[in-house]
Amino acid sequence: MTMDNDFKVFAGNSNIELAKKVCDYIGIKLGDIEVGRFEDGEIKVIINENVRGKNVYVIQSTPPPSDNYLELFIILDALKRASTEAISAITPYYGYGRQDRKTRGREPISAKLMANLIVASGATRFIAIDLHAGQIQGFFDIPSDNLSAIPLFADYFINKNLSDIVVVSPDVGGVTRANSLASRLHAPIVIFAKRREKPDEIARMDLVGDVKGKNAIIIDDGIYTGGTLINATKILLDKGAKKVYAAATHGIFCNDSLKKLNDSPLEEIIVTDTLKIKNSEGYEKLKIISVAPLIGEAIKRVQTHSSISELFK
Ligand code: R5P
Repeated sequence: MTMDNDFKVFAGNSNIELAKKVCDYIGIKLGDIEVGRFEDGEIKVIINENVRGKNVYVIQSTPPPSDNYLELFIILDALKRASTEAISAITPYYGYGRQDRKTRGREPISAKLMANLIVASGATRFIAIDLHAGQIQGFFDIPSDNLSAIPLFADYFINKNLSDIVVVSPDVGGVTRANSLASRLHAPIVIFAKRREKPDEIARMDLVGDVKGKNAIIIDDGIYTGGTLINATKILLDKGAKKVYAAATHGIFCNDSLKKLNDSPLEEIIVTDTLKIKNSEGYEKLKIISVAPLIGEAIKRVQTHSSISELFK
């Protein structure tokens, strides 16, 4: 099926570079939109081109979460009121995704709240990459696609020609992700049992499986404080791993975590450009793979009513 040209891609301010790369991949120009601020700091959105009857795609990541989410809601509202045919909200990194259930009394489920707000603002389709938990798709009662960066990481490691690979899941929740990479690399997996007693602090990590003499690849959805990777790397090396690599889709890198990871015994830290990594220059261990072809291909497939899941076979 051929792709009609009756669609447009817009972006908020979170990651315009990525949105431009997506448009280059598809072979279109990024939509003309102004996302600025009024004098009092409120968000001002003006769409500078006609979108009546069009399928539109809005690319907006977090962090920082609060401003970027509000930009997204207001852009969606503007597009809805401009008589678009359908609106896809694309959040390459879905912020607030980690708060996806109540772990104790009187906590919010912010991942569900963001889903409600995205839909209430006008989205008729939702696309993300490596959601913290796949079940978040169920928070949306509109079509949703959770794209995966795992094939990109698999290609990266295949091109490195590493032997004796073991893929490491840094927690029990990451086993499906680790299995997906391991099957592409024809490697076994090992698992950490990780216990947190407070958010952002690790109380204990126990390794289940053998890593002696292996090139260990830790695969995770996101890097926040870097604590998981630093602890895991130390244990893996203590248990006899030859080298340790870390791959994670979203490089959030809170505070000075990127410096700490770059100074750690990790060989490489591989992330994608789902979000803009500030001050990433000078960290020689950091490698950034672009998800632009992945998002671009997903848009093309939505436009041509083709399968998106075929992309991951
Ligand atoms: C945990 O559930 C996630 O998959 C990540 O492993 C974790 O959030 C990483 O956080 P940090 O870098 O703060 O250890």
